[in-house]
Amino acid sequence: TKPVTLSTLKQMKLDKDKITMLTSYDASFTNVMNVAGVECILVGDSLGMVIQGQDSTLPVTIEDMCYHTAAVKRGNTNAFIISDMSFMSFSKPEQALDNAAKLMQAGASMVKLEGGSWLADTIKLLSQRGIPVCAHLGLTPQSVHKFGGYRVQGKSQEAADLLMEESLELVAAGADILLYECIPTELGKKLSEAVPVPTIGIGAGPHTDGQVLVLHDMLGINLGHIPKFVKNFLTDGRNITQAFEAYVDEVKTLTFPGNEHGFK
Ligand code: KIV
Ligand code: NA
Repeated sequence: TKPVTLSTLKQMKLDKDKITMLTSYDASFTNVMNVAGVECILVGDSLGMVIQGQDSTLPVTIEDMCYHTAAVKRGNTNAFIISDMSFMSFSKPEQALDNAAKLMQAGASMVKLEGGSWLADTIKLLSQRGIPVCAHLGLTPQSVHKFGGYRVQGKSQEAADLLMEESLELVAAGADILLYECIPTELGKKLSEAVPVPTIGIGAGPHTDGQVLVLHDMLGINLGHIPKFVKNFLTDGRNITQAFEAYVDEVKTLTFPGNEHGFK
């Protein structure tokens, strides 16, 4: 199979071919995801929780992200690799550029940053220097202490309007993908129709251009709280390859996420 690139993903939005993404943190799982046809791999800072056993993503460092990105890269043949910028590794534009460069040299093809309007200057700088950016909006777990917990975002009209405004602003700044976490299904639909770049959702309903889940969540081996948007695919006697294949199939056929995985 041909390597998946940013152009592939942009074309998939136009073709209404749903984009499949899973998190991975090592070479072996990455290889199995390739075999199962997962198009994008996110080296998420969720590794703080599912790999390191931390109770949030805040302790994760850029060195941790580089280590896991390099491992994923070595196991990858054709998926598009996106790596998270860790907490406070992108609080200033020049610092963000230096740290994004580390992730790209470790093997990422795109970096992901959590935040809204304030990221515009940073996204512009990275974009101008040839680094593709995914902006993560809605529930941004690095801000858990500011939110006072992991809560659905964009529920009021005002919050929904702000999310729309910020999305368009970040696309204008150069964001190539927008990822929405835990927002109402209807808002996920509106945003995905309004922005010209691919949208990826997690707890954002079935209308985003693609879906992502955390590996450990979708294999049913999450130690902690299981969010409403999660589905365990390692069921019905499947092995791990088959669980990934089932995920790809259900996302492509609009079977997952179902109503029960979304927010009103
Ligand atoms: O770190 C991560 O796994 C993520 C996804 C939940 C989108 O950012
Ligand atoms: Na993350």
